[in-house]
Amino acid sequence: MLQENPAEQKRHKKLIVIWSVTFLILFPVLIALGLLMRLNQGEVFKIDPGTFYALMTLHGLGMAGVLFSFSWAALFYLIGTRYIKLNIGLGYLVYLLVLIGTVGLVIASLIGKFAAGWYLLYPLPFKGVSWTGWSTGLTIVSLIILGVAWLLGSLHVVYALAKEYGSFSNLMGWQYLGKTEPEKELPSIVLITTASLVPAILSFIVGAVFLIMNLMQHFEASLTFDPLLLKNMVFFFGHTLVNVTMYCCVAWVYVLLPEFTKRDWKVNKVVVYSWNGTFIFIMFAYFHHLYMDFVQPVSLHYAGQIASYMSSIPATVVTMFGLIVQVYHAKIKWSIIPMAFLLGMAGWAIGGFAAVVDSTMSINKILHNTLWVPAHFHTYMLLGVVLFILGFLFYLAHNNKEERDAVKPGLGFWTFVFGASGFLLMFYLGGMKSVPRRYADYTGIDIGNVHETGALLAKTAGGFVIIVLIGLLIMYGSLFSKLLKASK
Ligand code: HEM
Repeated sequence: MLQENPAEQKRHKKLIVIWSVTFLILFPVLIALGLLMRLNQGEVFKIDPGTFYALMTLHGLGMAGVLFSFSWAALFYLIGTRYIKLNIGLGYLVYLLVLIGTVGLVIASLIGKFAAGWYLLYPLPFKGVSWTGWSTGLTIVSLIILGVAWLLGSLHVVYALAKEYGSFSNLMGWQYLGKTEPEKELPSIVLITTASLVPAILSFIVGAVFLIMNLMQHFEASLTFDPLLLKNMVFFFGHTLVNVTMYCCVAWVYVLLPEFTKRDWKVNKVVVYSWNGTFIFIMFAYFHHLYMDFVQPVSLHYAGQIASYMSSIPATVVTMFGLIVQVYHAKIKWSIIPMAFLLGMAGWAIGGFAAVVDSTMSINKILHNTLWVPAHFHTYMLLGVVLFILGFLFYLAHNNKEERDAVKPGLGFWTFVFGASGFLLMFYLGGMKSVPRRYADYTGIDIGNVHETGALLAKTAGGFVIIVLIGLLIMYGSLFSKLLKASK
């Protein structure tokens, strides 16, 4: 445990409050882009397709980037104030780079109309494009800046942890696998952070190579690359990033929930085995995105299915079991913080289950590229990661146990959960009715009643999104001022 140093703690708090306020501003703006897309699909108004795809690109990149950045920042705060000394100057540098990268993406998509989607599916950014050439270059450079920020931040945390705990094997908890008890206890947040950030670091490096290849072609149009290789690279990067975001949040729930249940949530052999499994398999699960690519070796399709199951099921089952042990008959005061963590775990389990269903080849043949896909990842992002973040923010905004126990999940919280559930349900129903994903609208689909069903579900989803925004606004009422006060 770190020795208390009030000045250092204060600097950490200031930085995390800056991150928090930035998150609280960007998040509803990105939701508003989603609302515009849903209302366009619902034919409430008409946006031209070029603008729709620019909004979709900014929304996808923005949400994934903002949520990962914040989940890293929260880990940086918790680890840096409780376990080891971290370099706060580097924390500010990461923030600055993320901000610059984000501004670049906003300019590229809103002014330059860059619209290739988050995955920049090669050679899409260079062939028959509807957007300005400079916006392709700016998007690539902005993503490189974001990648450098995340790489620096993740390397710093893992390096500092390895220095404190001795070695990589110690960070992964291998000392728990022997017959004797380890001499030094390994906090669960350290194990999960390592199991998350090391694969993330590898994915950032692959992502950087992918982006540099794209940048080279941007400047030298005669260059071409193997599209299959680039598709593998971008999905390794993107899939890992989104998964790791969830695991970073789970890491802090392992630390903060016990403060409410008054029960330890410690590392043991089973926890070590499950997170080591996640560490390995998370890197191969992305193959399930390429089932439809007939040129991909078939063995990798099988590997993708096995890795999808192995990367998610053990860690989820062990965590859910741990969660039940935490809350069963615990004398817990159900303030907004443990409630957000509990429902966040449910969102993770439900979205994760829907993802595993979709990663099953025989089912993927039917659900591939339908709205089932955004349904599952929006579930564990919106009702998983975002609930964990809200729980963390309420924790941060209140300074002591009494205050934290007193802040009840009120109208704003339940409005948010209700709106988000309805919004997600419309995606799932769309998937079950074969409504395709990434369609600006469904007017051109002349198969059965897919057009009418898709539009109706989208319009209804738009209503639920407005409820989500109202819920957030109500919560913001107290959250903003409390957060700012807590940083003083
Ligand atoms: C209430 C909040 C949200 C709304 C209204 C919303 C709305 C949408 C819509 C309408 C789409 C396009 C779906 C399609 O037809 O394919 C979409 C795609 C997407 N959303 Fe969201 N979303 C929300 C929250 C989130 C969150 C929390 C994340 C976090 C990662 C996220 C990440 C994405 C991504 C990555 C895509 C795919 C973009 C692409 O295919 O290039 N969204 N969202």
